[in-house]
Amino acid sequence: MAHSLPSLGILVSGFGSNLQAILDACAQGKLPAKVSLVISDQAQAYALQRAQQSNVPVLLCEKGTLSKIEFEQKMLEALQKASVDWIVLAGFMRILSQHFLSFFPQRVINLHPSLLPAFPGLNSIERAWEEGVKYTGCTVHLVDEGCDTGPILDQRVISVESCLDLEDLKKKIHEAEHELLVSTLLKLLTSKLSIKGKRTFFSHV
Ligand code: GRF
Repeated sequence: MAHSLPSLGILVSGFGSNLQAILDACAQGKLPAKVSLVISDQAQAYALQRAQQSNVPVLLCEKGTLSKIEFEQKMLEALQKASVDWIVLAGFMRILSQHFLSFFPQRVINLHPSLLPAFPGLNSIERAWEEGVKYTGCTVHLVDEGCDTGPILDQRVISVESCLDLEDLKKKIHEAEHELLVSTLLKLLTSKLSIKGKRTFFSHV
């Protein structure tokens, strides 16, 4: 009997280039997973069109007048109905509660455009540029209830001095993010993850 592929739920708010990287990797057989649901909290997110072009079900879940509990409940019900195994925050611009996360323990990951714990929160690339750091990059981490604070799974480093200007740095970080996100997902799906404090380790199963 064929094994069913692990199921991913992707939460987005915007352009969706990282969603596209995951969709492409799944379609090309580079990632043994399927994207079962894409949820956006923004109606105009281009990521929604990307999902539809790949025939992935979408849910538009706007916060609007919903309380945080109601908003998260709506997402939770859809994710559970889609039998999602892993949740990927790919440019999703909201902080999830401990209540939400408790339904997917150590199964929610986030992508961030800096070498965490440096520059958490908004405008990380611009802030790293203005601070004059020599190296920055991107991080994939497990999500906790903080803002970009969960255990780090993997990172990529970019030399700022190798960039022509801020736009070039943004481009290089975004390119690195696409590779990092797919590569981290592949490790999560094919290795055993252990966590000691905030340190994470992958080992062969
Ligand atoms: C990425 O830079 C990610 O690190 C941040 O939001 C951006 C999303 O880009 N959290 P996209 O929507 O995947 O193109």
